[in-house]
Amino acid sequence: MAHGRRTFASDNYAGVHPDVLAAIASANVGHAPSYGDDPVTAEADRLFRRHFGDQAQAFIAFNGTGANVVGLQSMLRPFECVLTAASAHINVDECGAPERFLGSKVVGVPTVDGKLTPAVLEATASGVGDQHRSQPRVVSVSQATELGTCYSRDELAAVAEWAHGRGMLVHLDGARLANAAVSLGCGLGDLGAPAGVDVLSFGATKNGAMGAEAVVVLRPDGAADLPFIRKQAMQLASKMRFVAAQFVALLADDLWRRNAAQANAMAARLADGVGGLPGVAIVHPVEANAVFATLPDGATEALQAEYPFYVWDEATGVVRWMASFDLTEEDVDAFVGRLAQLIGA
Ligand SMILES: Cc1ncc(COP(=O)(O)O)c(C=O)c1O
Repeated sequence: MAHGRRTFASDNYAGVHPDVLAAIASANVGHAPSYGDDPVTAEADRLFRRHFGDQAQAFIAFNGTGANVVGLQSMLRPFECVLTAASAHINVDECGAPERFLGSKVVGVPTVDGKLTPAVLEATASGVGDQHRSQPRVVSVSQATELGTCYSRDELAAVAEWAHGRGMLVHLDGARLANAAVSLGCGLGDLGAPAGVDVLSFGATKNGAMGAEAVVVLRPDGAADLPFIRKQAMQLASKMRFVAAQFVALLADDLWRRNAAQANAMAARLADGVGGLPGVAIVHPVEANAVFATLPDGATEALQAEYPFYVWDEATGVVRWMASFDLTEEDVDAFVGRLAQLIGA
């Protein structure tokens, strides 16, 4: 791959937004207390509260898997289980980290577009009170989902109402929360406590950061164990100011929104462009920054020879294209044009 070329493989292939790099550089002055007792982390904490509400307590982490594991650990005992979409990152792409570190079962529920509903949850949550069964305790949703769809605020609230009605808690994997908020035309915080979420992972990395994720605890009294869980999970940064600075850059004004809006717009443009090509079918609604498609025979390999991207499902040949914050209309149009050439459209 030509180094530096913008691609559609993953929103993690993108670089760092210049304002985020500048914020890291501006935090690089003199000495500051370690482990989060510094003014930059205090500013990030203030911004988390501004976005997610006064009750929000944020715990900065290094990566999304770590944030998910730490957040879930604060909600679960080992004999309890998490219900989540079969396609969820915690079920598929974390190498079993939740099972290993929590000792809890992750139950993957088949869904159509990556979204749980009260009906599918009701059909899954059996064995409550049976000592032979792992006890359902947490519902984990991803927003946006791994399939590029978004829960509406009502859909999210319905899942939360179902969970809370059974004494369960709601975890949200928000590795792409910014993309979902832009898609739904709401604030980040609207997808937290008002939607019934108890604990969420907020991802900045895919939104233009270098590497910054956070566990945001929204439920009252839910954060007491978090400092210890995070440290034991090896997610406590000693020079935290440099991770915190990335959140400050994204959350202080609307950089988070502008980056997510650009990514979502480029995904929509890509879907529009390829959707009309013969033999190309978009297989999930394009509601955030991902496009999933099937292509005519041979087109995937030919296009992959020039642009890296992933086959999402080997069995069906469905491919995934991700749009990142730094893609341009020219990038998208060149990609669509090349695919059109390859399939002779
Ligand atoms: C839905 C979702 N959650 C979490 C993550 C975070 O993963 P990582 O541990 O690689 O930062 C990702 C990254 O791909 C993701 O897509």
